[in-house]
Amino acid sequence: MGIEMNSLRDPDLSVKIGKIKLKNPVMVASGTFGFGEEYKDFFDIHHLGAIIPKGISLKPMMGNPPPRIFETEGGILNSIGLQNPGFQDFIKEKLPYLRKIKTHLLVNFFGNTQKEYIELAKRFDEVPGISGLEMNISCPNVKQGGIIFCSDPKMTNRLVHAVRKSTKLPLIVKLSPNVTDIALMAKSSEEGGADAVSLVNTFKAIAINIHSRKPELGNVIGGLSGPAIKPIALRMVWEVSQAIKIPVIGMGGIMKAEDAIEFILVGASAIQIGTANLVNPKTGIEVINGIKKYLVENKINRVQKLIGLFKP
Ligand SMILES: Cc1cc2nc3c(=O)[nH]c(=O)nc-3n(C[C@H](O)[C@H](O)[C@H](O)COP(=O)(O)O)c2cc1C
Repeated sequence: MGIEMNSLRDPDLSVKIGKIKLKNPVMVASGTFGFGEEYKDFFDIHHLGAIIPKGISLKPMMGNPPPRIFETEGGILNSIGLQNPGFQDFIKEKLPYLRKIKTHLLVNFFGNTQKEYIELAKRFDEVPGISGLEMNISCPNVKQGGIIFCSDPKMTNRLVHAVRKSTKLPLIVKLSPNVTDIALMAKSSEEGGADAVSLVNTFKAIAINIHSRKPELGNVIGGLSGPAIKPIALRMVWEVSQAIKIPVIGMGGIMKAEDAIEFILVGASAIQIGTANLVNPKTGIEVINGIKKYLVENKINRVQKLIGLFKP
């Protein structure tokens, strides 16, 4: 009885994503938390369930021409264009700090060809201190006329299968919402050997200036994120959770604990915070504390009990 009372006051926040045991379900999303160090003065970032740094490619990338961020009502539109220091500089300059943080490091990566994805997965496999890989498949395949990898279930399946064979690290496939049937893409990833899927990436969108009659972004098209996308992301996470057996990591407009709980209820085993980090850098710790408070108030001793509780 005593033990039960204790666990009601101090609920177990741990969750599992394949082989990875997280101390809580709260991660920070790629591209919105730099390489960790940028946030260290705001809170003890080792409290996070996992950190996912900016997406890494084989070679450094400069990204798109400015302006690259535009604030919309209820969200932001970005066309950073996957700017990053590339594999070598990431290992030399960024990894030493990330490795010291006492939480899981999940490395987000991408390629322009299947060969590049495989090469990167092999290289990361040999690097100590990485708990798993998150593979961003919202990228054009330059070998196939620029068709986006994740827009075709067969291409997704082939890619995931090939990368799966190239690394022993847990593999999370990050899905794009810019598809007709995201559950189909999740299924292709599962069948290809993914250990988990994460969703959603940003929604393709534009913003225009009526005075200049020009686009607000240098690249014209950008990706929409933030609260504006939350209801759609939630619907997608729900559909995907019903379609596959592997764990689902949900994101899209999570600004506070209540939003995170909604994603867990529709079936997410863990969640990621993206745009909110740019608005309030302490969102991560606030969401962790808020989930705990909700569990205590509802007399639930383990967050795992919440996963998929939503039954319409
Ligand atoms: C400025 C910015 C940069 C991003 N960079 C990446 C990236 O490098 N790789 C990736 O997989 N997703 C990237 N994303 C997408 C986010 O990780 C996340 O999937 C998306 O923003 C939705 O979550 P949110 O609404 O909480 O921001 C980026 C998003 C933003 C806003």
